[in-house]
Amino acid sequence: MQEIFDQANAVLEEIKTSSPTTAEELEQFRIKYLGTKSVLKDLFGAMGKLPNEKKKEYGQLMNALKDAAQLKFDELSQVQDQNKTSNKEIPDLTAPGYEVPSGTRHPLSIVKNKMIEIFARIGFTVADGPEIEDDWHNFTALNLPADHPARDMQDTFFLTEDKNWLLRTQTSSVQIRVMESEKPPMRYIFPGRVYRNETITARAHCTFHQMEGLYIDDNVSFADLKQCMLYFAQEMFGKNTDIRFRPSFFPFTEPSAEMDISCFVCNQKGCPVCKYSGWVEIGGCGMVDPAVLENCKLDPKKYSGFAFGMGIERITMLKYRVNDLRLFLENDVRFLKQFSSAL
Ligand code: DAH
Repeated sequence: MQEIFDQANAVLEEIKTSSPTTAEELEQFRIKYLGTKSVLKDLFGAMGKLPNEKKKEYGQLMNALKDAAQLKFDELSQVQDQNKTSNKEIPDLTAPGYEVPSGTRHPLSIVKNKMIEIFARIGFTVADGPEIEDDWHNFTALNLPADHPARDMQDTFFLTEDKNWLLRTQTSSVQIRVMESEKPPMRYIFPGRVYRNETITARAHCTFHQMEGLYIDDNVSFADLKQCMLYFAQEMFGKNTDIRFRPSFFPFTEPSAEMDISCFVCNQKGCPVCKYSGWVEIGGCGMVDPAVLENCKLDPKKYSGFAFGMGIERITMLKYRVNDLRLFLENDVRFLKQFSSAL
């Protein structure tokens, strides 16, 4: 009789200490202790051999056995399920990473940054001004009083009926803002966007970018302007680049010039880029007109200076041989992704 109890206790111990780890071992465990032909069945069968007064105690032992087997099975199944799902979530740390597509810098930004870098080397710092301007800064202070015919050189987007507020037509407006608020010496560049009421074609747009420069100090000469422009042209377009000044007119400079660089595409042999002239125009420049200095409360007897203005689109088109201005604003990635490297 004791033997039957011992046997049952031994099975209980077995259940408690067994630890099936794989799915297969767990299934064996289930068949052995919980299946239709489980060892517990035989032990239950042995109940008949026991005297009545022992049956209750044995029955309790049997229930404890069954519960222990069920509990163990449930616990281990749960652990296995967890392993299965967490196995799925562990990423393969040795796998190569996903490629994150990165954008490219806009060609105008590449050229603008290069221009800033070149001028920074000779002491120019960047200053900024508003794109919405008043008449004073965009025209009047720049020696273009009301009704001056030169105002028609630039078709303007006016914002108010009285034409006092407008979208700046030139970055020259920032010259005035700086001269009004600072004392010489001043050596600045003003890169920025300008607007003109023009029909959009491959060669003209209603918005584009300029880089203005201003240098005011005692004794600034035309030779300083030429040297500065030559330095820029050679840094931007190559050491063999030559420059040429053609007399011109701008109301805010006197004398004024238009600046050409020798054509770096054909080495001045003649090509469609320079229209077979050997020279390409890149901007306007001149000595700041004394009237402009006076408008900004600077004494023209004490100070002089030069100014220049260049089109960033123009320089970008020359550098990269882009033949349609509209491409810069269309944001077609097939166009933009061709300019991934810095200049
Ligand atoms: N503001 C002129 C334009 O938009 C360009 C220019 C010419 C700027 C001569 C200057 C300059 O500073 O001196 O056409």
